[in-house]
Amino acid sequence: MKIGIIGLGYVGLTTAVCFANSGHEVIGYDLSSEKLHTLKKGVSPIWEPHVEEYLQAALKQKTIHFTKEISNVIQQSHILFVTVGTPSQTNGQADLSQVWNVVSQVQKYGQPGQILVIKSTVPIGTTEHIAQRLNDHDSPMLDIIHNPEFLRQGQAVHDFLHPDRIVIGYSQPQALEKMKHLYQSFSVPIIACDRKSAEMIKYASNSFLAMKISYINMIAGLCEQLGANVDAIADGIGADPRIGRSFLQAGVGYGGSCFPKDTQALLAIAQASKQTLPLVEATIQINQAQPLRLLQRLEQRLSSFKDKKIALLGLSFKAGTDDLREAPSLKISQELLQHGAIVHAYDPVVQSFPIREVICQTNPLLAAQDADAILLLTDWDEFRHLPWGELAHVLKQPLLVDGRNLLQWEQMKEVVATYGFEYISVGRPTLFSSIHPADRIE
Ligand code: UDX
Repeated sequence: MKIGIIGLGYVGLTTAVCFANSGHEVIGYDLSSEKLHTLKKGVSPIWEPHVEEYLQAALKQKTIHFTKEISNVIQQSHILFVTVGTPSQTNGQADLSQVWNVVSQVQKYGQPGQILVIKSTVPIGTTEHIAQRLNDHDSPMLDIIHNPEFLRQGQAVHDFLHPDRIVIGYSQPQALEKMKHLYQSFSVPIIACDRKSAEMIKYASNSFLAMKISYINMIAGLCEQLGANVDAIADGIGADPRIGRSFLQAGVGYGGSCFPKDTQALLAIAQASKQTLPLVEATIQINQAQPLRLLQRLEQRLSSFKDKKIALLGLSFKAGTDDLREAPSLKISQELLQHGAIVHAYDPVVQSFPIREVICQTNPLLAAQDADAILLLTDWDEFRHLPWGELAHVLKQPLLVDGRNLLQWEQMKEVVATYGFEYISVGRPTLFSSIHPADRIE
């Protein structure tokens, strides 16, 4: 089948290269001619595992092409996917300008029998409005579909190829059959429904996942007061299949381009209908406070941040990506700097950080040199096996704050005992060393 992809960000590009390696012919378009130039050379403009490998395979098989003419994509596709960005506006509402720009082009070049698929996350009712606009202009297209994505950054290719379900919001049964045919090789449940429900499924899914994270972070706060261990609580409740263990990892809070944006957008949608969503409001409030709660604990421990050096390990919002959107490191480094701290940082992938007062180093030891504390903010695998002895040696004091509960609490008992670390984490008892700093193993 000939598939068109308009918007080649992490969703659009992942969709394009995966379809192009699944027996389809793909033509991709993006506003950025620089991005198109990079893609034609077989280089991925985004840091997303396996995308470049799939891109190069598709270029080699000649199953993917890129064009700077949007008319080409629209005129040459049987199924046309819209995967452009819908960023948050200051009032929390989604900015749909990119979507409507594409619709105006589809109005001009749409083909008989063609299916337009809105995969971008859009407010409930948007796909209906798009269909109305095209129908008002006697569009020859077969149907306008809403097909939300559930891709996690850092695992986007995996998640595309191994979905839990495919959601299809449609109006024409013929179009539903064509979409089922497109996705038949995935052999997963197809949730077929009306367009508005398909749009709502995306927001309900993301806000529920965000709520799970804020829930466990709320419980972690109580664990800190009572001396319980949030890992045990997550295991204990997560073993119930009605709850499920995933997304119960306590930490410094969620970031990224989706949870913050989609929870705010859902609130804005509800407010426009004079509805309140107290669980979503609480999810956002808990998450916004989470980084500051961790910093308060560190500030109490150091008595003040003034003239203290803090080493941040990890800057991206999660492991597996270089994406800094809504990353906790942004708010945390701003707070530290405002309180007079000196901030150094190391991230294995992030090459530049927008807060220029943060000194980015090329390895953890350089960042930790003469630091008063290490603050771990991203769950990169390499931080599971840090050179503890060398770190204890270069640090002014062996104080490690694990903002992602990345390190196994039980295993850290040995590191604390051997190298004299004090280990603070989220919702778990602090581990103290009995070794006097002067007697630490060098
Ligand atoms: C999310 C959804 O998972 C995905 O289905 C949707 O399509 C897009 O938004 P993403 O934001 O890329 O994906 O990453 P995700 O793995 O969900 O993590 C989001 C944030 O939550 C990260 O900052 C992560 O560190 C944090 N997180 C995740 C937790 O703090 N605890 C958890 O248990 C899981």
